[in-house]
Amino acid sequence: MIRTAADIIECCRYLATFTEEPGRTTRTFLSPPMRQVHEFLSEDMRAAGLDVFIDNVGNIFGRSPKNTRPRILIGSHLDTVPDAGAFDGILGVVMGIALAHRHPIDVIGFSEEEGVRFGIPFIGSRAYIGTLDLTSEISQAIRDYGLNPSSLPKYEPHDVYLEFHIEQGPLLESLNLPLAVVTAIISQRRVQLVFQGKANHAGTTPMSLRADALAAAAEWICIVERTAKECKGLVATVGRVQVEPNAGNVIPGKVALSLDVRHASDSIGEEATAKLLQCARQIAERRGVQTQIESLFSQPTVSMDEKLVATLTEVVGHQMTSGAGHDAMIVAERVPSAMMFLRSPGGISHHSDESVFVEDVAAALEVGSRAIQLLRESYA
Ligand code: HGY
Ligand code: MN
Ligand code: MN
Repeated sequence: MIRTAADIIECCRYLATFTEEPGRTTRTFLSPPMRQVHEFLSEDMRAAGLDVFIDNVGNIFGRSPKNTRPRILIGSHLDTVPDAGAFDGILGVVMGIALAHRHPIDVIGFSEEEGVRFGIPFIGSRAYIGTLDLTSEISQAIRDYGLNPSSLPKYEPHDVYLEFHIEQGPLLESLNLPLAVVTAIISQRRVQLVFQGKANHAGTTPMSLRADALAAAAEWICIVERTAKECKGLVATVGRVQVEPNAGNVIPGKVALSLDVRHASDSIGEEATAKLLQCARQIAERRGVQTQIESLFSQPTVSMDEKLVATLTEVVGHQMTSGAGHDAMIVAERVPSAMMFLRSPGGISHHSDESVFVEDVAAALEVGSRAIQLLRESYA
């Protein structure tokens, strides 16, 4: 039974053992360990009095038969990055279950937020609000899991969505504060870029006759870093590089890279992305290499609901913006949404050392409880 802060932490650490890769936590969209998570959380949700339902994109939904207006939904995501910590996402789902023991609320665990398996993030929350476009790969993954991609979920919109999440940065720790209310989530876009050169023998091909895709990619990656460093508030990351054929004695013929660009200003983020892609084309042309560019995702900066932020701020004084993306930025399009951050010890996240303080989880539970009461009173 998940009721206390200690139960929540124990549960998150246990769920971190449900993984695709022995010895480290990696759980991507509809991978086999997702089924274990579904089974485990289904029991916990039922124990909290919720009716449990797995929808056709693998979101787990726990509905309280007593959830009346305002219909409150609490949740976050079930998937992880490779070699993840135990709290990113899942903490918000498990906290929702703990709060469901005290209040008639619905709880959701979104099946995909990180964008690891297909480079496309927020599959679960976009399905929840009804804006998901299926690609053939996603449809196949859904079928392979035993679900039906031709019957996407249809949720009656809730009145309120709340998400508890670790901060994933150093700010709260530096201020010696346990919690903060999130006011806005900054814009992001994700692009896949391929440099297509020509693989050939590393010993016999003169340097002047090469079309080395990895050399082009390397030059471009340094420009990505420099461009972001030169623009205040801009962060730009090439986090995934796939080299083909990836052999020491073969000139790299093809390199596929991810690009992630974020800024609080949508237009600055857009302009930076366009400039970086233009640089990639120029580098490729100079080096006799081709490029293929595919935009995978683009999301403007999203403000959290003003009224909800005001209510949460009555309980937790501190406010901040989020540089990380969250399901709340998607859900906010349909449902008034707000988020609460818990301090990240050492500012560490997307890393196996990610952690959380038990006293901060306890404080977040109390704040969550108080906020739910206030919301119910203000809707009465
Ligand atoms: O990438 C993000 O900001 C989030 O952690 N998925
Ligand atoms: Mn994450
Ligand atoms: Mn997350």
